[in-house]
Amino acid sequence: MLTVHVSKTGSVALAALIAGLCLGPAFSAASRSAQDGVYSAEQAKRGQSVYREECAKCHAENLTGGDGSPELAGPEFRARWTGKTVGQLFELLRKTMPTDDPGHLAIRQYVDLTAYLLQANEFPAGQKDLDRDIAAMNEIQIPAGAKPAK
Ligand code: HEC
Repeated sequence: MLTVHVSKTGSVALAALIAGLCLGPAFSAASRSAQDGVYSAEQAKRGQSVYREECAKCHAENLTGGDGSPELAGPEFRARWTGKTVGQLFELLRKTMPTDDPGHLAIRQYVDLTAYLLQANEFPAGQKDLDRDIAAMNEIQIPAGAKPAK
């Protein structure tokens, strides 16, 4: 009886160990979320001044869009970007915006704009700037969970 008990415990422990070995690396490589404070407030502020000069004429000062340009803050925007990455958002800006002169801004300005759009969609600011490293940005998921628009 005792032998059976020990071997049961042993196999449970072994199963747990195997599960731990399999899941461990997957968990440690888990990507970050835009909810984790991935940009700084100062950076979003810089992005906002670029936005006012380069983007507001089409997407409106308050990011509601209009006249064929989509809104950039609010439920529709978040629905479109849920499950994508911050890197994808950055790449879209860098390659296609502003539509009248795509890609003419500095990389740093596109990163700052990305930070501003995250802030406008109520993802919280953190301590550090969003890094311009595209691989790192691609690991940051945009979750559905931002607060609903006012
Ligand atoms: C001349 C007008 C114009 C300007 C200036 C402009 N955009 Fe756009 N933007 C558009 C249009 C039109 C679309 C929709 C294009 C499409 O779907 O292909 C769009 C789409 C977008 C999208 C995708 C929205 C989504 O939910 O998929 C983002 C993000 C964006 N613009 C950001 C910016 C930023 C940031 C700037 C400033 C650097 C900017 N745009 C400047 C017209 C403009």
